[in-house]
Order: sequence, then structure tokens, then C-alpha cells
Amino acid sequence: MPHLFDPYTLRGVTLRNRIAVSPMCQYSAVEGLPTDWHTVHLGGLARGGAGLVVIEATAVSPDGRITPGCTGLWSERHAQAFEPLVRVIAAAGAVPGLQIGHAGRKASANRPWEGDDHMPEGDPRGWPTISPSAVPFGGQLGKVPRAMSHEDIARVRADFVAAARRARDIGVQWLMLHFAHGYLGQSFLSVHANQRDDEYGGSFENRSRFLLETLAAVREVWPADRVLSARLGVLEFDGRDEETLAESIELARRFKAAGLDFLDVSIGFSTPKAKVPWGPALLAPIAARVRRESGLPVATSWYISHPEQADAMVREEQVDLVMLGRPMLENPHWPYLAAKKLGVERAAWTLPAPYAHWLQRYRT
Ligand SMILES: Cc1cc2nc3c(=O)[nH]c(=O)nc-3n(C[C@H](O)[C@H](O)[C@H](O)COP(=O)(O)O)c2cc1C
Repeated sequence: MPHLFDPYTLRGVTLRNRIAVSPMCQYSAVEGLPTDWHTVHLGGLARGGAGLVVIEATAVSPDGRITPGCTGLWSERHAQAFEPLVRVIAAAGAVPGLQIGHAGRKASANRPWEGDDHMPEGDPRGWPTISPSAVPFGGQLGKVPRAMSHEDIARVRADFVAAARRARDIGVQWLMLHFAHGYLGQSFLSVHANQRDDEYGGSFENRSRFLLETLAAVREVWPADRVLSARLGVLEFDGRDEETLAESIELARRFKAAGLDFLDVSIGFSTPKAKVPWGPALLAPIAARVRRESGLPVATSWYISHPEQADAMVREEQVDLVMLGRPMLENPHWPYLAAKKLGVERAAWTLPAPYAHWLQRYRT
């Protein structure tokens, strides 16, 4: 029976334990370029002993950024700026991961601490947005996107491939396609956003097309010995969850057939009317079902804050990895303290030696 501190191997990548740091935007980039803050942030998280650290949602094109402070990977200059981040994570013994995506109709927003809303029309910091259909998200993200043409679809797909190539060339080991949280990939799948009547809209088959084509195109350039994963919002908490979940599980099966290695189970966030039943590890049983019925290894996040809970999710084979976001911001040494709390033998503490050597003898 696996436990939280067992290593995990997929393709040619081995994580030192089953704890992954979930991607978390820092809204601190300048023209898409990461800054010193990213080095501090990611180095600190990796140092705490997680097996995998996934760098934040990074836009495949400038208009794919959520805010003007979001990172991007649309040029070689950007790739060069990311390379030290990959090294910092690896130097602390974690596997370097990266999430790439396009924010679609949720792009061109203010940073969360500056309002989290769309920038007003005419604001020079903003930009026109695109989505499968000219339907706004709503609420404080009310900007009407332009419905994507076939050329737009081909361009974004090519942008994903180019970003994946750059990630490959700077040594990213675990690539995550952002198909969740109401951004562009999720918007193609969701009936809340996609009202097209061509081959990219309507039936499940058609709403899945953009995601599957993008995945297949990225797999072609992504090395066979590294992990290709995706984050998918498998349900919306909008009152039609059984139907959406059944579609998502079928999509996960098709992802697998198209070369996906791993799925991060999340929430759709395609409508401001969603009623999410927030609670501890609320997605654990849903992730377990996706895992069982799709055959893909999975992770999930959202309110997994206690080591015992994370360990039980792995032991009961609900998930292969746990993804932690805010618990790692609160305490980057969460993995080390979790190991102590769970009574894991010291050899498996996964703290880098220059810390482990001292702390293994230190009794509080
Ligand atoms: C500051 C912050 C930034 C986030 N940025 C991203 C992101 O870039 N990509 C993503 O898929 N999810 C993002 N999320 C969601 C987290 O990855 C995670 O799924 C969520 O916080 C739930 O996990 P938690 O309860 O452990 O925090 C972000 C969350 C936070 C708190």
C-alpha cells in the first residue's frame, strides 16, 4: 500500500514523495518575465521537501495572461528567464513542473489584490480577449470576448506547442496543460462558454476537439521520458454535475489514448453561479472516481491541509499525488513537518541534506 512518503515514478520521472505543490500565480511578472520574487517563492517551496513543484499558469501568448502580472513563455527571452527557476527547484531535490495555458475570456483582469475584475474598456493595460463564443463569464469578469476563428484556434494550438518546446528545452520534467478554472481549454468544453455551431461546439465530441487536438500536438514535441499532465475542471457545481462528470471521465479516457500521462482533477469555474460545497478534501471522492473509471493516475487539490488526510488519500488509492496550494504558502516546510507528524522514518523525510542533517538530531 503506497503512502504519502513513498516515491512515485511515471515515465522517466521519479518524485521523492507524493506531495506536489499546486501551480500558483504570483501576479509578479513583468511583460511575462518572471522576477526575483519567483526565484524566492519557488526555491522556498521546493526546499520544504515536496516531490514536485509546478510553476504557475504561464501564458502561451500575451493575450493568454490572466493579468498583466502573469508569466508567459511566448519567446526565447522568456524561456531564458525561466531556466533558472527550473534549476532552483531541481537544486532543492524537487521535480520541476510547469503549467501552460491561455486565460481565454477571463484574461485581461486586474491582479486579485487590485480588484480581481476585468480592466475597464479603454484601459491601456488591458487587451481584447478571445473565447470559443462571444459570451462573457459574467459577474466582475464581464468583458465580452471575440469568438475565435479557425485561424485563432490553429494559432493558439501552435502557441501551446511552441511553449511546450521551450519548456522541454529548459529542462521542465512535468508539463501541465491548463484545461481548468474557466480558462480557454475549459471554455471549449463547457456549455456555459461554448455556444459554437461548428465542429468545435455543440456535441461533447465537438466541445472536446480543441483540448484533444492541443494535447495531441503537444505530445508530439514532449519527450517520451517526461510527464505530460493536464488539469481539468471535471464538474462545475452548477446542478448538472452527474452529466458533466460523466463527460469529463470519457474525456479523460480519450486524453489517455491521446498520450496524456496524468490528470489533475479540479473544478470548472465556468460560471459565476456555481455553488461549490467547500469543505476538507472535497474533491477526494470525485478524483477517486475519475481515477477508477478513466484508468489515468490522478491528483487533486482544494482544502487538503492535514497530513493524515493527505496520507489517507494516497493509502486508500483515491489519488496518486496530493496537490497543495495554500497550505504550502502558509508553511513551505509542510512536507517535512507532515513526515514528523506521521511518524515517517527519518530516512524518508525528503528534506535536503544541509537541513536534514541538523534537524534529524534536533528535538523540540
Ligand atoms: C495564489 C494562488 C494562485 C493560484 N494560481 C493557480 C494557477 O496558476 N493555476 C492553477 O491551475 N491553479 C491556481 N490556483 C489554484 C491552486 O493551484 C489550488 O488548486 C487551489 O488553491 C486549491 O488548493 P489549496 O486548497 O491547497 O490551496 C491558485 C491558487 C492560489 C491560492
